Amino acid sequence: MAGTFETVGVVGLGTMGAGIAEVFARAGLAVIGVEADPAALERGRGHLEGSTGRALARGRLTEAERAEILGRVSFTTSLEDLADADLVIEAIPEVMDYKRALFTDLDRVCKPSAVLATNTSSLSVTAIAATTTRPGRVIGMHFFNPAPVMKLVEVVRTVTTDDGLAGEVADLARRLGKTPVTVGDRAGFVVNRLLLPYLNHAAVLLENGLAGRDDIDAAMKLGAGFPMGPFALLDLIGLDTSHEICEVLFRETRDPRHAPAPILRELVTAGLLGRKSGQGFHCAEEPQSPSSE
Ligand code: 3HC
Repeated sequence: MAGTFETVGVVGLGTMGAGIAEVFARAGLAVIGVEADPAALERGRGHLEGSTGRALARGRLTEAERAEILGRVSFTTSLEDLADADLVIEAIPEVMDYKRALFTDLDRVCKPSAVLATNTSSLSVTAIAATTTRPGRVIGMHFFNPAPVMKLVEVVRTVTTDDGLAGEVADLARRLGKTPVTVGDRAGFVVNRLLLPYLNHAAVLLENGLAGRDDIDAAMKLGAGFPMGPFALLDLIGLDTSHEICEVLFRETRDPRHAPAPILRELVTAGLLGRKSGQGFHCAEEPQSPSSE
């Protein structure tokens, strides 16, 4: 059934969207990358060229394979170019109003059989689906950063998702070389619901002066076997995205442990967003903990 997905649109070519586009192109599917304006489109193209360029430099791709992958991706600023896509994945910023507006447009533009998927990290897939005339064909397809490397895809089904669609999308994820898990539509799904409280708590401990940033990172890498410490991972995910996921978890659960740590909020307000802005927990001066003032 997954063979029915041959042309895929990816809307939003930031870190996640560009990584997702690369994953599909590597698996041999035709990809149409969409961005809002030409400058963002060029940045998206740059992400793809940079990522496949690094793979070439490491000897993981040949020149010919890289050219084939890049050749499968076309770029456009017009949603209308998605009219014939079999699947569209949305990877735009985590703002519900933007997502709902986009899905209304996709529903108008895309053929009736097309599946509309969101890569949202914590927002309600059900609420996004409800803006369309085809809620049965709307699903969550949640990739992890860096998308070309991380093996998991959370397939998020809602109460309105057609029977069988989650299975089709899970088969597609396997075709991409990923392992799917099917999850229900609750804030954060499985991974972010468990991961973000941990990352947020690390920021609280830093603020409380329990230990320094590098020591907390080293502790979790060397003592718990995580590939990265929490502050390195927050910088990778993006502090804005992390903050937003905590906000959504807090709104849905009212559990005070999910309330974003003040230091996280402060860095986001300052525009220090981690790798994407060049400064975050690791690139900035170590934040002063109140206990050291
Ligand atoms: N894009 C593409 N490939 C990348 C990459 C990137 N951004 N970063 C690393 N890679 C590749 C490297 O090219 C290398 O590939 P190779 O083995 O084929 O040569 C491989 O990944 C390993 O990279 P490195 O040797 O440079 O570094 P590490 O071994 O330290 O691995 C890591 C880097 C894969 C990022 C590892 O540290 C890791 O797994 N970190 C945890 C990441 C994580 O938890 N992600 C999930 C975040 S939550 C999320 O995304 C949900 C969202 O909703 C917020």
